[in-house]
Amino acid sequence: MALKPSLESLLSSLSLVDLVRLVPVLSLCICILVFMLKKWQTSYRLTQSLGSAEGEVSSSKMHGREKTKRKWGEWKPSSFKRPAACPYSDWDVHSSNPIPYRPFRYGPTYSVTMGLRSMEWDEWIGKKSYARLFRHLERDTFVLMFFEFILNEELDNQYLKYHSGRNRRIAERGEKCFGTAPEAMDGAIELLEELCEYLPERYPTMFQKTPTGISNALTGETFDITQRPLPEDPMATAARLIQDDLAIMVERADGEYYLLAGAILLAGFWRFRDKFGMPLSEIHTSGNVPQYQEKLQRGMRNFFRRLKPEEPMLRNNYFIQVDDNLAWSHSIGSEDSETVSWNTAAKNKAVEHHFFRSERQSLRRLPRSGVVVFTIRTYFEPVTEIVKEPYVPGRLASAIRSWGDDVSRYKGREKYAEVLLEYLDQKHEEQVQAGLDIEEEDLIRKYPL
Ligand code: HEM
Repeated sequence: MALKPSLESLLSSLSLVDLVRLVPVLSLCICILVFMLKKWQTSYRLTQSLGSAEGEVSSSKMHGREKTKRKWGEWKPSSFKRPAACPYSDWDVHSSNPIPYRPFRYGPTYSVTMGLRSMEWDEWIGKKSYARLFRHLERDTFVLMFFEFILNEELDNQYLKYHSGRNRRIAERGEKCFGTAPEAMDGAIELLEELCEYLPERYPTMFQKTPTGISNALTGETFDITQRPLPEDPMATAARLIQDDLAIMVERADGEYYLLAGAILLAGFWRFRDKFGMPLSEIHTSGNVPQYQEKLQRGMRNFFRRLKPEEPMLRNNYFIQVDDNLAWSHSIGSEDSETVSWNTAAKNKAVEHHFFRSERQSLRRLPRSGVVVFTIRTYFEPVTEIVKEPYVPGRLASAIRSWGDDVSRYKGREKYAEVLLEYLDQKHEEQVQAGLDIEEEDLIRKYPL
């Protein structure tokens, strides 16, 4: 009875060419498996961290069998040590393109969620993008996959532009855009020390650790972080090292997290001084973040209280801006005016004035001080550039149409929707005419890219 061929006979009937052809299929299966495992791991961690907590925080190890409790606002230094970052041996700041985050989804409904996923340690300030690898699987071209694999990285070829812009902001705007409350000083210094460890590990060709801090071979800067008093606010120094804006959240005895240190230099739509000292809830309600109280507040509170040093997280967002200023969107008013609002923005500007702004945010608790560090890397590109990517115009148009009234108000939709949607529809149609396969997108795209 040889109806069912054994694995052995099946394999022996395959030629070498067949086996080689199987490699892309097997690679795809492995990628999908890894992706699903990661998704499961993230949702498991989130389920663990989003339960309710009253008066104290349970941090559980071994699936909740071993529990330790702490009072809000009290932190016992953790013994956790971040795994050493892998050096980017083949990395070059001049040739690394910014990672093309496209964190928008097809409609019909846009749901407000925390949108968190877990982060690999090597991704904290520095990531290789796998997106292009998925994009080109269909073409069966390993060479192309490989080259795309190393193309999009952070830190990237925008570093010097961001660096000089950030230094200028620090010089021109001073403490309007950075600062550290005494309560957060230990956390800010721990962050600076952590950057002085991490960056030379990850980017040894650009950063060198020195006996007193760090030096940057690209800019020629050297920072002494052991001097006391420090020559400048530690958050300003931290901000000069990387492309990201930084915020430090400190838990107080009421269990709430307060913005007590930060360097917010390129936020576009909000100002550090407006939010400095505020608890997380007020930061969001004062900005009218849609559905904050109904959909986000409770989950975020529990997430922050339970965040462990060993479990860093990521999230992405996106906005449309109708001027080309990365640091501050002057369409919503002058950066120094009393109040700012989308009401002041001009309506229906030509599409050349439409910019796609996207933030990649990371959250991690520092083990010694227990503060939560929030990093915000802003990517900023003309809409007329991103529409050249397959699927992007169609998907972005669908996402914008899916916003409810509250989200639309928050994102200023009425100021640009008419012009932008017409343009996106036209670009989408051009892609379809050129042979875009709509069915294929889910196979080759991985959120948030
Ligand atoms: C779990 C972490 C967090 C979540 C889920 C979250 C969620 C959100 C959401 C949904 C928005 C609307 C824009 C968007 O889609 O991103 C927003 C805006 C904002 N968030 Fe958060 N956030 C988090 C952490 C933080 C932290 C730590 C800060 C501290 C600085 C912060 C400051 C802000 C500010 C300033 C805005 C803009 C508010 C405005 O328009 O005035 N967020 N956040």
